[in-house]
Amino acid sequence: MKFFIDTANLEQIKEAQALGILDGVTTNPSLMAKEGITGEGNIINHYKEICELVDGDVSAEVISTDFEGMVKEGEALAALNPQIVVKLPMIKDGVKACKYFSSKGIKTNVTLVFSAGQALLAAKAGATYVSPFIGRLDDISTDGLNLISEIRLIYNNYGFETEILAASVRHTMHIIDCAKLGADVMTGPLSAIEGLLKHPLTDIGLAKFLADYKKGN
Ligand code: E4P
Repeated sequence: MKFFIDTANLEQIKEAQALGILDGVTTNPSLMAKEGITGEGNIINHYKEICELVDGDVSAEVISTDFEGMVKEGEALAALNPQIVVKLPMIKDGVKACKYFSSKGIKTNVTLVFSAGQALLAAKAGATYVSPFIGRLDDISTDGLNLISEIRLIYNNYGFETEILAASVRHTMHIIDCAKLGADVMTGPLSAIEGLLKHPLTDIGLAKFLADYKKGN
């Protein structure tokens, strides 16, 4: 399972990278705004900085909602660095743009996916990644994890190579459940990733080992 961090915060990206488990980064316009990164030039520079910090894929989202605009913007983003994955919204022109980019060998991430039908379309259009937003489904009393199972079944049935990128991951159990269900990738906050480290018996056990070591010295 690949681990992406879902943030535009450079310090958190560095921290996850230093842990040695990071496979990539996802961003979106809201995450950029949260870090105070606004304006085309600043956003482009920020993508460049992120690419320098990590070895893996970096999803950069287009703002245009029409095919021509998405192609223009996506091509400019993809030209920044081979690590860039063009992130496209799951709308009609986004599907067309996905097909355009996949036929040119440019990596894509189809975002804002909330149904199995949308995921099927993204795979048909050759998406590199499809991003089902599990946390936002949970927010409206719908089972986000069930969507991961449905997409896994459909992709397995037909051997689609599109990777299931579980997005809108909010906490550690989301990561574990997505791993059980066979999501290829998860993108979440640093706190959810670090939550995987924690177990009270580890802390108690370590404290005892250290105390016993001191007794013998
Ligand atoms: C995915 O690529 C999105 O950036 C993200 O996972 C959305 O998460 P949220 O629902 O917590 O905003």
